[in-house]
Amino acid sequence: MKKTACFTIALICALTAVAEDGSRLWLRYERVQKACVTGVECLAAKELRDYYDGERVRLELDTTMAQDAYRIEGVTITAKNEIGLLYGTYALLRGEKGYSAPQWPLRILNHWDNLDGSIERGYAGNSIFFHVPNTPTTLQKIRDYARANASIGINGSVLNNVNASAKMLSAGYIKLVKTYADILRPYGIKVYLSVNFASPMTLGKLKTADPLDPQVAAWWKAKAKEIYTEIPDFGGFLVKANSEGQPGPGDYHRTHAEGANMLADAVKPYGGIIMWRSFVYGANHKGEDRVKQAVSEFVNDDGKFRDNVILQSKNGPLDFQPREPYAPIFDTMQHTPQMAELQITQEYLGQSRHLVYLAPMWQEFFSFVKPSRLVGIAGVANIGLDTNWCGHHFSQANWYAFGRLAWNPNLTSEEIAKEWLAQTFSLSCSTAPGKALLAMMMRSREACVDYMMPLGLHHIFKFDHHYGPEPDGFKAEYPLEWCPVYYHQADTAGIGFNRNHTGTNATAQYAEPYRSLYDDVKTCPEEYLLWFHHLPWDYCMKDGATLWENMQAHYNRGVSEVEDFLRIWQEAKPYIDEQRWKETDERLHHQLDNAREWRKVCLDYFRTFAEKKK
Ligand code: GCU
Repeated sequence: MKKTACFTIALICALTAVAEDGSRLWLRYERVQKACVTGVECLAAKELRDYYDGERVRLELDTTMAQDAYRIEGVTITAKNEIGLLYGTYALLRGEKGYSAPQWPLRILNHWDNLDGSIERGYAGNSIFFHVPNTPTTLQKIRDYARANASIGINGSVLNNVNASAKMLSAGYIKLVKTYADILRPYGIKVYLSVNFASPMTLGKLKTADPLDPQVAAWWKAKAKEIYTEIPDFGGFLVKANSEGQPGPGDYHRTHAEGANMLADAVKPYGGIIMWRSFVYGANHKGEDRVKQAVSEFVNDDGKFRDNVILQSKNGPLDFQPREPYAPIFDTMQHTPQMAELQITQEYLGQSRHLVYLAPMWQEFFSFVKPSRLVGIAGVANIGLDTNWCGHHFSQANWYAFGRLAWNPNLTSEEIAKEWLAQTFSLSCSTAPGKALLAMMMRSREACVDYMMPLGLHHIFKFDHHYGPEPDGFKAEYPLEWCPVYYHQADTAGIGFNRNHTGTNATAQYAEPYRSLYDDVKTCPEEYLLWFHHLPWDYCMKDGATLWENMQAHYNRGVSEVEDFLRIWQEAKPYIDEQRWKETDERLHHQLDNAREWRKVCLDYFRTFAEKKK
């Protein structure tokens, strides 16, 4: 072969390799510049001209349509405004037809990004917003981020960590946020900020942050005015108060409602909202079963919040475990608008080292908490500066699935995975390789539960970083509710946390039928068994095996599932580009090692009780 030909081939290979590093996410359209686009001139028209493979498209406005909804009929996309047209455009690009409207008006990513550029529970590099703020590269990255979000209907971003620095509200940072808001706006994304409740003291030099103090309220009003002058469509504040050491109204013996309402009044004139988190424990109800504390803390505030306050609660009552029963606060607070907070970043599900597709877990939550109970949805983002955005190529599927479910929680996990595989790996699920990858994704969450903490076990992670097992974890200097031994309560008599009416009575926080269902060991689903009940090791399970035998079977199944994922991945090799195949392969090998470690450490530890009795 001639030298130039060799060079050309090498160059093409190099270019292809770069193109398939995961940086394009599911937006791997070729720039075809083929379509003749008529009608409304907007960002949607530009996207269609660049990427639509058909000949003609027309963009039309219909102001009677619902906010964000679109209709794709023949070669016409119709929507209320330009953002709706943009949503319709991405829908057309992925092959959709017909009418679609989102379930919720609030579809928000929560970034736990710190001002020093690090990310709390981030596993994909540093913050896209704060690591190197305001450079041309950063601004381009944020534009790409906005486009990716718009393509799946996400319309809000909380830029900073819920453990918020007061500095976020300083004039310099407000200017930076304005720059970002200007980039996100054309993509239909509003900016929100997490705020530190003590900001009037730290930043404003007031002597107090008491929400009933007129000077404090005035400080927040002035701050809101300053923000809205720069960013007229600013979304509002997210607040973590009196939780894990954060300041809050409780420091002044005020209620959550008093704290939230004071902030709500400050943003109300501009149409802003307050998302107040219910993830509160160890404050007023210290010593109570941790999973009960959110309800105990908030129940008296029900109906007392301003109409622009939304209570934001994690899907489960503890903390984003691989499996939790739904959080009963969604039953209890009948007169307060509520949002669910899901965690896209896999803090407790192998972080970005394990392939775990989260949509089935979120669907499980929606089977208990009807989407119509909620006014919005938030997802703790898994996005960082890594080339592929999410650390693991398959973690991108969780960002994608969050957006798609936020738009339509009635989509099945399978439908979403199929869409994602088609766009991300050009693999159709009507082919054998596509089917195999789909099956792997669909089985991955249950596998994770099995090799980490089956049968309702929870929080037996290593301290602090939450990666890997530590069932014997106990530190006298830590609050008990951070210690694994508190959660499994294993001894020679048995294992599990007694939360029925003879124990902490957490079951009483649930509405019927779940209250009775969970309370009675005979009707409690086995996947929640040890969450609600303490049982002897020889307790007879539905399959006739003892609890101890059944638990071992779960751990074994979890590990063999990951072995099978590796087999599936080896067989998929011919159909996947080199770099993404190799990077995923490395992570799958690591996942298998880690799954085996989970099984060994947990079973070795529990055996010391389970087999001692005999
Ligand atoms: C978890 C997580 C923390 C986080 C907290 C929260 O506990 O480990 O890093 O700050 O949740 O949601 O506020």
